Parts: sequence; C-alpha cells; structure tokens
Amino acid sequence: MEKKTFYITTPIYYPSDKLHIGHSYTTVAADAMARFKRLTGYQVRFLTGTDEHGQKIERRAQAAGKDPQVFVDEIVAWIKKLWQLLDISYDDFIRTTEERHKQAVQKIFQRFYDQGDIYKAKYEGLYCTPCEAFWTERQLVDGNCPDCGRPVELVSEESYFFRMSKYVDRLLAHIEANPDFIQPASRKHEMINNFLKPGLADLCVSRTTFDWGIPVPFDTGHVIYVWLDALSNYITALGYMSEDGSLLQTFWPADVQLIGKEIVRFHTIYWPIFLMALGLELPKKVFGHGWLLLDDGKMSKSKGNVVDPEVLVERYGADAIRYFLLREIPFGADGHFSEEALVQRLNFDLANDLGNLLNRTLAMLKKYFAGRVPAPAERDPADEDLRRQAEVLPRTLENLMDELQFSAALAEIWKFIARANKYIDDMSPWALARAGRTERLQTVMYNLVECIRIVSVLLLPFMPKTPPRIWQQLGIAGEADLQSWDSILSFGRLPAGEQTAPGEVLFPRLELTGEGGAPVRQATKKDKGKPQAAQPAAAGKPADADGTGLLAIEEFARVDLRVAEIVAAEPVAGADRLLKLQVDVGGQQRQVVAGIARYYRPEELPGKRIIFVANLKPAKLRGVLSEGMLLAASDDEGNLVLATTDAPIKSGAKVK
Ligand code: ME8
Ligand code: MG
Repeated sequence: MEKKTFYITTPIYYPSDKLHIGHSYTTVAADAMARFKRLTGYQVRFLTGTDEHGQKIERRAQAAGKDPQVFVDEIVAWIKKLWQLLDISYDDFIRTTEERHKQAVQKIFQRFYDQGDIYKAKYEGLYCTPCEAFWTERQLVDGNCPDCGRPVELVSEESYFFRMSKYVDRLLAHIEANPDFIQPASRKHEMINNFLKPGLADLCVSRTTFDWGIPVPFDTGHVIYVWLDALSNYITALGYMSEDGSLLQTFWPADVQLIGKEIVRFHTIYWPIFLMALGLELPKKVFGHGWLLLDDGKMSKSKGNVVDPEVLVERYGADAIRYFLLREIPFGADGHFSEEALVQRLNFDLANDLGNLLNRTLAMLKKYFAGRVPAPAERDPADEDLRRQAEVLPRTLENLMDELQFSAALAEIWKFIARANKYIDDMSPWALARAGRTERLQTVMYNLVECIRIVSVLLLPFMPKTPPRIWQQLGIAGEADLQSWDSILSFGRLPAGEQTAPGEVLFPRLELTGEGGAPVRQATKKDKGKPQAAQPAAAGKPADADGTGLLAIEEFARVDLRVAEIVAAEPVAGADRLLKLQVDVGGQQRQVVAGIARYYRPEELPGKRIIFVANLKPAKLRGVLSEGMLLAASDDEGNLVLATTDAPIKSGAKVK
C-alpha cells in the first residue's frame, strides 16, 4: 500500500541575530506536528529555511559593514544551530540565496510574464521596509504601517506589476468552498472583508532602487519583489521548475502551512494567486497562529535574557521550553510568555505530575518486586476505567492534532497522567503488599508501568528528549517495538520481566530567585530553610535540658499532632509559594498558610488527610492568619510531599 504523505512548512525566517523565543513558536509547533505524523505512520516532509533577500537585509548588512552574502551566511549558521538546540527535525532547509531557488524563481517570473500576468508600469506609493510591504495612503493607520506601526517610505520607481485582479473571484470561490483553507476562521473573515471584497490592487513585483535580490531574467535592472521570491520557496524546495519533479509529485499540495498571524495576508491572498497562475493546487490548510507577548507588550530581543532562546534552552532544557510553548497557549490565540509561568508549568506538570508518576511507580516496583515488571494476574473491574482511558487516548490525540490543537492534546495526556496518579492512591499498593495480596499487587504495578510507557510514546512529538530517558528507567531503551505508535493502541503490550531502575530526576523542581530572575534548584538553596518555609520564626533557643541534644519524650508529647482533612485551598495574593488552607480537625475548622504552592494545585488538595500540628502559636504570614502547621517531607532533589495517613482514619485522630 502507498504510504500516506504529509507536507508541512514554516515561514522562512529573515536572517536576524535578534531571534527571540517568539520566533521559535512557529517552528516548534511545526516540528511537533511533523513528529506526530511520522510517529503515526506518514511519510513526512518538513520544510523550513531563511528569507535572505530584500531591502531590509541589504540595509542591515550595510549597517554591519558587511557584504550581504557574508552577513546572511553567518546568521543562517546561527539559526541552524538554534533549531538544533530545540530539536527541530526539518527534512529540508531552504535558503533563498541558493542556486536551486534562484533559478526556479526566475523561471516562475518568466512564466508569469510570458502568459501576460505581469506588465511594466510606474509605481508611486508607500512601502514598509521592515514588513517588505506596499501600502496605499488609505490603508495606513495614523500615517504608519498598519501591520507593524512603523513609518513607511515614499517609493517612486519603474516596476513590474502582477495582475491580481484577474484571480480575485476564483480565490474568493476557493475560500468559500474550502472552509479549512484559512484557519482559524476569524482570520479568513478578516481577509475576505478587509482585502478581497474591497477589490485587490495589482501587486508590484519588482524593484529597481536596490540590488540585493534575484534579478528579473529579462530586465536585469530589476530585482524580484522579496515576497514573490520568498513565497516560492515552498515549491522550489520540492524541485519545482527543476528536472526532478518527484518531490513535487509526492508532496504538493502542502497539507499544512504554519505562519504567524501578521503574514496571513501574504499566504492566503498573494500566495494562492501565484499558485493559480502556475496551474498548481492550493495548500490544504494555512494556519495563522497568534503571538507570544511579554507582559509589557510585544516581544523583542532588546528585552534581554528572558526572551533569548539560547539562554532559555540552556537554563531549562529544550523539552521544557517546547512543552511550555505548546501547552500554555491555545494555538491560534495570543498568549503571554514569562519565566514565572514557565517555571510553574515545569514544576507542576513536569516535575510533579509526570515526575511523581514515574518516581513513585519505580520506587514501589523496586521495593516489592526488586524492580522487575511483574506479570499481571486476572483483570479486575477496578482497572477497566484506566485501561479504557489509555486506549482512547491515541485516537483523541490524532483528532486534536489534525486541528493543530497542541495545547488540548497535551492537556489530554496530562489528564491521563493525573488518572494514573489517582490509580496509585486508589489502589494503595502498600496496603496490598501489607495484606499479602501479591497477585493483585502484581497487576496494579504492571498497569502503572504500562501507563508510563504509553505516556512516554505519546510525548515523543512534543518533547523528544524525555521519552528515551523514561525508557532507560523502564529498561526498554533498546526495544523499538515498545516505543511505536502501534504498541500503544491496545493496553498491555509491555512484556513482564523488564528490569526497571529508578534513575535521575527527569525535571528537577526549580524556583525563581528574586534577583535577575535566574532559576535555581531548590535543593541548592541551603540558606533558605525547608521548602515549605511557612512556619513562623522559632522563638528562642530549642529546649535541650540535659545537654545531650536529644529530645525527651515529654518534650515531644507537647506537640499535639492530629489527623486533619483539607476542606478548601486557595492561593495567597502576592505570595506565589503560599496556599491558604481550611482544614477540619475533628469537627473544628482551622485556617493554615502553607508554603506548598509550588507542589500542589489548590484543586487537588480538598479531601486529603494530612498530619497537622494543632497547638502551634498562631502567626500571620503575608498578613494572613495561620493557626497550625502541616507536615510535609522534602528531599534534596527538590521534591516535597504532604505527610498523609496510610489508610482512612477520622479527622482529629491523635498522631503520636
Ligand atoms: O515573516 N510570537 O519572517 P520572520 C509568535 N520572512 N510568533 C512570532 C513572534 C512572536 N512574538 N515573532 C515572530 C517573516 N514570530 C518572513 C516570512 S514566508 C514566505 C516569509 C513568527 O522572521 C512569525 O509569525 O519575521 C513568523 O511565523 C516567523 O516567526 C518568522 O518571522
Ligand atoms: Mg516578522
């Protein structure tokens, strides 16, 4: 059977050493999609590259005192390195200064001219050089470029023009007949109402007042307009107008073209019209995603380290950055980027939810079965919900990914991780072990390892470095048949007997320091005290009556420890480490402020039975009354878990 094919493209980037984390957004999304399609059996072609011609680049090179080709060569090398750091798995990287591209673009231009789509006239009008876009007086906003808000220049020169008007009706008809063509739909309406319906002016497609571009083949005083040059990359990279048409044959039309919202106009009006003029099919989907913004506005490299993709990858690792970009913002919408939000995602989702599932499971497996995956015994109705959720998940992800809903797809995986963590609590393997229910314990532990394996395969497209680290710990690193999409379509493909070994922490918990914003691992902050750090400062010296340093039993007995049930939890405004809890201690309600906000979300706390110090002097933390303290365990890897009871017991019960 012929393999299903999938062609996905990103825009080609302007060579700039000022790429910021926002620029990585399109490319990371396209990469996740490309990896997902490869994983699910498609023959994929993933194209990215650089857009190297035009007046803007020429001016930048001049400002740097460099020949434009030398200038772009250096930056392109840097961009390629950046994509490598972010694990971008492109199949081809096209540069518009390459021969294969230049020759094809000249042939395209010649063809347009030969068939009467292009004519020569004089251009008098406005030009935005940063956007490389022509505007009319009427389109300006406050006298500036309507796209970027910067000043425009008056241009007056002889030019070739493309007869856009000739194709407008066909394009409108195509857009109406193919609802998927422009996504999200809001961008489609904008294109129709603001640009197509009012009438589309012919487009100036050559320039004469600078040199850095592809010469018009039959009129060498002209260089081809940089957007006609750039847009053609999507087909020249497939060998269009070359001797070898096989890639074009296999992959065109593109399945998905991903772009930022500010270049939707070029990709859904000019690009399809050029394709129509060439007699080629239109891409199946052009998706204009939103912008990544900073809290104080648009992103730019001048904002420093917080937006520098190299610094961020160095600090947090590529997988954490990729996870954040794809999870935090619904694809299509604008969203905010901040290091605080990034650290929070890392701590909650990666260190806590995913990390705990792996660590708890492997620790128990080590304890009960010397780390060897046990054979499951009989299926139990109590496992059916978990198994069913595991089995519907791959299909759910396929549907969401086809809609480019990266965030929703990741949210589904994390729902399943939460389900598996709950399975641990519900099944209480420690109680099964104590009760000698070995067969049941085998099944429960097997199911947990199988859940982790399924999650690891599902994570591959999004965070390619993490699954191999999980496989190492599961003891299946060399077993490709346990890492495939097919292997997770039904629950239970993992064979018993694999030797697991808890390994390094996947995502150590991080904390942002006040100054400079650089994160540190909590464990390295020796001077900071316990991570929960929400206890009132100790008054006076610790009692040590006999000088041995040891605690007398009567002294310990002064601490009134009780079982308490958490009734409600909420954040404390202005204190991102604290949560305000209402706890029930044997029918009495107490309020307590605890420094656990980095480890627990408010919504997962109600119902938990914890160990509570009931006779602590009340204190105020950040102005909030705290009447007691809860106990938690923390290790030097930055983990923190609440001390809870082994089995249900009524709240208020004394702990001693
Ligand atoms: O536009 N948030 O290149 P480019 C999200 N050469 N995405 C952002 C972003 C942000 N803050 N900043 C940039 C060009 N991007 C042309 C394309 S294609 C034939 C020619 C995205 O280097 C932007 O939306 O200015 C675009 O998708 C990509 O980075 C490259 O932008
Ligand atoms: Mg741009």
